[in-house]
Amino acid sequence: MSILDKHAILERNATLLLVGSLLVVSIGGIVEIAPLFYLENTIEKVEGVRPYSPLELAGRGIYVREGCYTCHSQMIRPFRDEVERYGHYSLAAESMYDHPFQWGSKRTGPDLARVGDRYSNEWHVQHLIEPRSVVPESVMPSYAFLKETPIEVKTISMHLSANRAVGVPYTDEMLENAVADMKAQADPNADTSGIEARYPKAKLGDFDGNPAKLTEMDALVAYLQMLGTLVDFSTYDDAAGYR
Ligand code: HEC
Repeated sequence: MSILDKHAILERNATLLLVGSLLVVSIGGIVEIAPLFYLENTIEKVEGVRPYSPLELAGRGIYVREGCYTCHSQMIRPFRDEVERYGHYSLAAESMYDHPFQWGSKRTGPDLARVGDRYSNEWHVQHLIEPRSVVPESVMPSYAFLKETPIEVKTISMHLSANRAVGVPYTDEMLENAVADMKAQADPNADTSGIEARYPKAKLGDFDGNPAKLTEMDALVAYLQMLGTLVDFSTYDDAAGYR
């Protein structure tokens, strides 16, 4: 009996074929999955990535609430056209404190993963108030109301502890200072030594053009201005060699 004849037995018996297929699929599955159990972490550690400051976290909440992710992705893929347009491709570690992540699946507008530092605060405010006043062909909606809406301050420490519950390493000190840090980040006259120590590279000062009022615009712009700025790529050892 040749090997093909033996295989014919399998092919003519549905139950045997099913059992055989299951066996093959489980061996393949185990070979793929088992090594992951021996890894402590599947995300490569990268210097510079830190939890969001309270104001940035609030801004991120507004980004999610307004559905910005329905038109914008936050994941630069490792392809030449993307890297030349948006900058270094995204690292997994850069969204490790995002719950939920904002990679997105649609780009009606450009990717925002590295939009931080690309424009001035004034540009962002003007663009969010009336996108067509700076980009005439834009189809982005207006978010002018953000500049008039005061930010909710008193719930911010709860947002920090909710993030801590799912693994973001916020310390007790960060939780205790959440409200003060949130106000200080957008106040040009505040003592910012505490926030600078807790959240390195946090952008400081008035964001929305009105230092007297802490608004949702302050929070959203603070968030946009930090996107993609935490990792210093001049020191990042880029094994894949796309730089
Ligand atoms: C209906 C789709 C749509 C939505 C929703 C949307 N945008 Fe946009 N966005 C665009 C388009 C299209 C552009 C490109 C034209 C322009 O600059 O206005 C853009 C551009 C931008 C830019 C400039 C990016 C660059 O690199 O030039 C930023 C920043 C931005 N959007 C932020 C936001 C934020 C924050 C929200 C949510 C509050 C948002 N967008 C919601 C479509 C959208």
